[in-house]
Amino acid sequence: MNSRGILFALVLVVALVLAGTGLYAMLGSMEEPAVQKAVLVAGATGEGLTPSQVVFNPPLPQDAPEDIREGVMLGYRILMDTQTYAKEYVGNQLNCRNCHFDAGRERNTLSLVGVAAKYPIYREREKYVTDLVTRTQSCFLRSMNGKRLPPEGKHMQAIMAYYHWISRGLPQYARIPWLGLKKLDSSHQADKAAGKRLYGPHCHGCHGPDGLGTVTAPPLWGPGSFNDGAGMSKLKNFAAFTYRFMPKSAPNLTVSQALDISAYILSLPRPRFQADK
Ligand code: HEC
Ligand code: HEC
Repeated sequence: MNSRGILFALVLVVALVLAGTGLYAMLGSMEEPAVQKAVLVAGATGEGLTPSQVVFNPPLPQDAPEDIREGVMLGYRILMDTQTYAKEYVGNQLNCRNCHFDAGRERNTLSLVGVAAKYPIYREREKYVTDLVTRTQSCFLRSMNGKRLPPEGKHMQAIMAYYHWISRGLPQYARIPWLGLKKLDSSHQADKAAGKRLYGPHCHGCHGPDGLGTVTAPPLWGPGSFNDGAGMSKLKNFAAFTYRFMPKSAPNLTVSQALDISAYILSLPRPRFQADK
């Protein structure tokens, strides 16, 4: 090869390298939108999630991987039978499952499937970011009229393991439609005298004539019930729960009836919330 030939070869090589780099840079910039899309999918609003990613399909507690199974099972048992498994932290006759049916594994209840993907959230009550430990303490202190669990203790750790296991596969901060209690849209003025008349035929059979509970169903007022600081002690929550889920397995009240019965029940005595137990 003469010197012109060598020069030509050199120019060719440089040109090829330059073209290659350009192509690489182009490909790189083409990838960028894809990266942005991934960020959007995991974004705080759940925007961009396809419904197929938010599926109600909680795994069974006993199917948890072996190294966390003991914790997951303890968490499940605490929620099902709080009176036995976390007795020292409970101050009434309720179990978590009385409001979060099947330890929150049901869809038609105050479901807990996906809570691990929902938190931390901002809560008006704390006026700050709240995690699942704090949220759970709130149900112990108010719904269970009980005491705070040591956050690093076995009970709380087990409950967290359980929440995470039943939330498996749900994307963090996705919009999970079955979480939260859907409030009632009604302008009906709740009438507790009418509610008192409705209590007999609709609730008495399971919750007892005096609302103190039976072997079939837990108390609705009196010393064994939730305290007056509980979410359930607010008419909008109690009425929504009653309308949507009561009588258990066969809800059949009108919105107005649910509001009347709820106003009656919430006018009766219950434990007082005491901060910092
Ligand atoms: C067929 C029986 C049955 C009837 C009738 C019934 N409930 Fe219940 N209710 C239950 C059971 C059982 C639970 C606990 C669910 C569980 O642990 O799985 C419950 C739980 C509740 C709870 C949450 C736990 C608590 O005690 O605070 C409320 C509130 C409630 N019922 C309100 C009502 C109201 C109001 C009526 C009347 C409109 C009513 N229920 C009628 C069976 C019934
Ligand atoms: C008397 C009924 C009742 C009992 C008993 C109860 N809770 Fe709750 N729980 C509620 C209500 C009402 C809410 C609020 C639902 C809403 O804001 O939409 C709630 C919310 C929660 C949340 C947050 C759910 C979410 O979607 O943000 C967790 C976690 C929770 N409870 C755990 C527990 C645990 C654990 C126990 C037992 C130690 C328990 N609860 C007992 C009524 C109850």
